[in-house]
Amino acid sequence: MDRKQSAKTKTGLATGIKNSLAYIKTFVDDKGVAAVMPSSRYLVGRTLRAMNFKHAHRIIEYGAAAGVMTRKILEEMPKSAKLLSIELNSDFYEKLKSIESDSRMSLYHGDVRCIDLIAKEHGFSMGEVDVIVSGIPFAFLSREERTELLTKTSALLKPGGRFVAYQVTTHLIPILKNHFREVKTQLEIRNIPPHFVFTAIK
Ligand SMILES: C[S@@+](CC[C@H](N)C(=O)[O-])C[C@H]1O[C@@H](n2cnc3c(N)ncnc32)[C@H](O)[C@@H]1O
Repeated sequence: MDRKQSAKTKTGLATGIKNSLAYIKTFVDDKGVAAVMPSSRYLVGRTLRAMNFKHAHRIIEYGAAAGVMTRKILEEMPKSAKLLSIELNSDFYEKLKSIESDSRMSLYHGDVRCIDLIAKEHGFSMGEVDVIVSGIPFAFLSREERTELLTKTSALLKPGGRFVAYQVTTHLIPILKNHFREVKTQLEIRNIPPHFVFTAIK
């Protein structure tokens, strides 16, 4: 490795450490963030494959955090597709604004529990969304809130549309089965902590 390459590697490493520390600080300040690190490339890859969004027109993301998943979705989604990403934490929302320069993406600072209103405001109609992907901690919602959010989520999706959720525990499986006709579960251990990826088909 020559001196130029070595300097580039060191800068990349320093940026990586700085971003990880910033993420940990956000987690310490706000427990709703729910993960101490951004999703690993293995979890991102598994989740994106579950989304199966090569021909999608409308995609919604719940809990974009630092935008690790968001950036990959934008890279892989069709040129004509639209992505609506929602994030509750103010620090993450400020960081996500830099991605919003991609005109296919709309960013919303708020709570996905109001997804029906947020979607309407952004021109995403009920029954026409292809994929909804979620990293929000469902375990932090009450039973009523979970049921209400999944009812709204299912109503937004078109028939055959999919809801993909990555979660630390399996508690969501029975609730998903009440709202979707098919639910598949995968485990990705190459993430801190390991996550389940649920694919629920409407
Ligand atoms: C586990 S992190 C998501 C990980 C991220 N997508 C990634 O790939 O690194 C969960 C995110 O959901 C956000 N969140 C939690 N509850 C939310 C809510 N009710 N509405 C919107 N965002 C929420 C948190 O602020 C946090 O950024």
